[in-house]
Amino acid sequence: MPLLAIETTCDETAAAIITRDRAVLSSVVASQELLHARWRGVVPEVASRAHVERIIPVIDEALTRAGISRADLVAVAVAVRPGLVGSLLVGLSAGKAIAAALGIPIVGYDHVAAHLYACRLAHGERMRYPCVGLVASGGHTTLFLVRGPTDLERLGGTIDDAAGEAFDKAATVLGLGYPGGPQIEAAAVGGNPRAHRLPRPLASDHTRLDLSFSGLKTALRYLVRPPGSPADVPAPQGKALADLAASFQQAAVDSILAKLALALDRTGCRVMAIGGGVTANTLLRESVERLGRDRGIDVLIPPRSLCTDNAAMGAIAWERLERGENDGLELDVVPGTDRSAARRR
Ligand code: KG4
Ligand code: ZN
Repeated sequence: MPLLAIETTCDETAAAIITRDRAVLSSVVASQELLHARWRGVVPEVASRAHVERIIPVIDEALTRAGISRADLVAVAVAVRPGLVGSLLVGLSAGKAIAAALGIPIVGYDHVAAHLYACRLAHGERMRYPCVGLVASGGHTTLFLVRGPTDLERLGGTIDDAAGEAFDKAATVLGLGYPGGPQIEAAAVGGNPRAHRLPRPLASDHTRLDLSFSGLKTALRYLVRPPGSPADVPAPQGKALADLAASFQQAAVDSILAKLALALDRTGCRVMAIGGGVTANTLLRESVERLGRDRGIDVLIPPRSLCTDNAAMGAIAWERLERGENDGLELDVVPGTDRSAARRR
């Protein structure tokens, strides 16, 4: 008796079929990366139009792969916040149409909370509450005290760029493609993370759990193109590129680690969970594991396929359905943060 989860908050069109015991029968993600690459960031109107074209084929593919038909669905779950308003509306409209046609409940879920629920999906009962949660993605870098799957208290977060946004912008500065995170990670292989002294803004400020990435991005930019240099300075190559990418990646990871450590100190939590696209980064994953070992606490990290946007993490909707909740056709979107290309450049 599975539900259909739909995810269209940003630039991935995704659907998943998930049973009540949280088994993911299928998870389909149609990425729009190629569509947005030339803009080096997500263009909202392009994203919504692509969602319109893909949403029904993606849902049908999820049903086919799960070996079920629409009539087998017992509920629909839709990521309704935060995200790009046009993108969110496509997923919501598809979800409402299916729920109305089948006469089944529809519930909305929070995309950010769902990123952390990926840990519950991957690690089951090991995901214990309360825990410290970090969501680091293209739109968010936020620390939470997670009291329950849908009960998150914000402890702090970025005061400017999100971590993923910083990776994407840094990739542009380095002449790499979009999305920047995986490209910087690949370019950093063999590079010296201490080749350049890059700032870790706010990392040594122990009075607050906020982060900042814009100074790091600007420092990288001035390293590559010092003020006054001609606009057509060639992009770094070879060892120079590897050193710059490795130094940037190390600084970004150090900034995040400093605040995770502070969040553990402040809350006294013995469990730490992370999620979001940036947590696919190997250096971040290894650094978080090490922090957990040093502190003797349990660290929960989703597999990479559950870090970047997907609908399997929409399993979080079962938490609401089990409480008997049903938003019905009144369900609406809550756009929240703007993750558009305009902000990324
Ligand atoms: O969670 P996500 O798929 O979408 C949002 O909710 O924003 O995160 C996408 C972000 C992009 O900024 C991308 O550059 C970053 O995650 N990202 C990475 C890596 N893979 C994806 N950042 C660093 N290292 C990676 N391996
Ligand atoms: Zn996301």
